[in-house]
Amino acid sequence: MSHPPTVRAGARRDTVPFVATATLVKNSRSTRSTIALKILMAVSGIVFIGFVLAHMYGNLKAFAGHDAYNTYAEHLREFGEPMLPHTGFLWVLRVVLLVSLVVHVSAAVVLWRRARRARTVKYVVKKNNHSTWASHLMRWGGLTLLLFIIWHLLNFTIGKINVQGGSTNDPYNLLVDSFDTWWLTLIYLFAMAMLGAHLHHGIWSSMQTLGLTNNERSRARAKTTGFVLAVIIAGGFSLVPIFVLAGVITK
Ligand code: HEM
Repeated sequence: MSHPPTVRAGARRDTVPFVATATLVKNSRSTRSTIALKILMAVSGIVFIGFVLAHMYGNLKAFAGHDAYNTYAEHLREFGEPMLPHTGFLWVLRVVLLVSLVVHVSAAVVLWRRARRARTVKYVVKKNNHSTWASHLMRWGGLTLLLFIIWHLLNFTIGKINVQGGSTNDPYNLLVDSFDTWWLTLIYLFAMAMLGAHLHHGIWSSMQTLGLTNNERSRARAKTTGFVLAVIIAGGFSLVPIFVLAGVITK
């Protein structure tokens, strides 16, 4: 059933009129489940932010050279021993990431479908072009990131594909061979730009879901947090590919 937006009759000019839409009718079952889905998206998104921050920092070991980088890669596999078996920590991490990915993507698809169903007739005049643009960017950017992650795992973990045809059993050399290839570096830089945009808006959006944007000051803080984290993560990740292509990080 679709309800047209309603505006309270007689709302004074200086008050914000009460607007109810089919997607957010107060205390309805679908509103509660929409909020639950948004919380799931926010929490799984926070798991990813923790991971990408740590992963980005780890990648910077490439600046310390071949042995330092490969020792770090090996440490990842030994982490937690002897309490955990070899690669045990990595497997726990993989399971947590996979569950977060499934939750994040499924919640996004359900919310996307729900928003589309709620608005069967398009607005004649779109007043808020910014939010329309942001939601398009989140959807298509998210899809691009999903494709990127599939390629990325084939490149470095599951498939270990060396696009230069060289060896694949040495993590540092595989990294350098990959980013010494201009088109692959370009693909990665494009993906990092998408990641930055996704994080910028996603962090703001998750803080809103978690009730951290209730006043002007907290809204400004949420915007700054989104911007700063996006620049640190996307910028930090981009450094290694750029410096390999520039010939600073070499085999
Ligand atoms: C320029 C950006 C990036 C570079 C250079 C990079 C590099 C690498 C490398 C070299 C590995 C293999 C590590 C090893 O086997 O020791 C790896 C693994 C991985 N990366 Fe990235 N990465 C980047 C961005 C990302 C992003 C944005 C994500 C996720 C959103 C991501 C997710 C992963 C995952 C899940 C693994 C597999 C870990 C495992 O299970 O072994 N990476 N990355």
